Amino acid sequence: MNRTELESIARAMVAKGKGILAADESSGTIKKRFDSIQLESTEEARRTYREMLFTTPDAAKYISGVILYDETLRQKTKDGTPFSQYLTKLGVVPGIKVDMGAKPLAGFPNETITEGLDGLRERLAEYHKLGARFAKWRAVIDIAKDIPTQFAIDANAHALARYGALCQEANIVPIIEPEVLMDGDHSIERCEEVTSAVLKSVFEQLDSHRIHLEGMILKPNMVISGKKNTARAGRQQVAEATVRTLKRFVPSAVPGIAFLSGGQSAAEATEHLSLMNKIGNLPWELTFSYGRALQDEALKAWGGKPDQFAAGQKAFARRAKLNGDARNGSYTA
Ligand code: 13P
Repeated sequence: MNRTELESIARAMVAKGKGILAADESSGTIKKRFDSIQLESTEEARRTYREMLFTTPDAAKYISGVILYDETLRQKTKDGTPFSQYLTKLGVVPGIKVDMGAKPLAGFPNETITEGLDGLRERLAEYHKLGARFAKWRAVIDIAKDIPTQFAIDANAHALARYGALCQEANIVPIIEPEVLMDGDHSIERCEEVTSAVLKSVFEQLDSHRIHLEGMILKPNMVISGKKNTARAGRQQVAEATVRTLKRFVPSAVPGIAFLSGGQSAAEATEHLSLMNKIGNLPWELTFSYGRALQDEALKAWGGKPDQFAAGQKAFARRAKLNGDARNGSYTA
């Protein structure tokens, strides 16, 4: 493990004014996104869509890194430059999703465990050769009656830490992503309680697995009411509860926290980030690693139509800039 290298990659990923584009949708997930614009998910359609995002003029001013999917890391621009090379030249760090998805956890109805540790050391070595300098692994924790169990929380935290240790051994910065879902009708208080238990377990496991905290990025959910809750907490309350919870459980040695959007609208996700940065006096960088909240408007504007390529880029550039503004709390709706 080269600690200095890991630290400098991690710091670049959370550079001031910038954040991460999550464009690592698996084939199943991108098909769902394309279904929403009635576009067939062919390999070429997926390549074109990712090229639209990555070649957006000026996006690199606000985007520090891009999370790719295995297929995308092996694809090229239409001029034949591998995406990873293209991004690296722009000063954007290429990353790779390495988990194999959340699978039912045997013996624990309605809970999942993220798989993908077998053969991971070898896959990471190949990904490093292909240009990836960071990786992502997502654990999924659902809130409902009688779940999550402490066992499922700990099992997922343990897998996250094993993944993290393998990444650092390969000089790849791990994004540690424990996502507490916002599906369901739970209150913000319940989300805070579960997020607290999850972060506590995750940092205990990271410590046990000898993770170099200065060479990782945390990608958590915000502390937020469930989508189906009829009296959802307001935006300032979300910002305050999220910062309070993170301050309690995330060591200041971690250089940055990059939120997932998790089903929030683009405007909601940007405003929450801005409000948190406005609170100020934070021990880590607070930024974004949004998938849907960065892409939804661009996907719609493009609609899979070749003559709307520039319109898609314009929508993406706009949302990237607004999130860049949110990095110092200066976003206005
Ligand atoms: P969303 O921002 O759409 O939640 O996606 C981020 C991500 O990478 C989930 O793993």
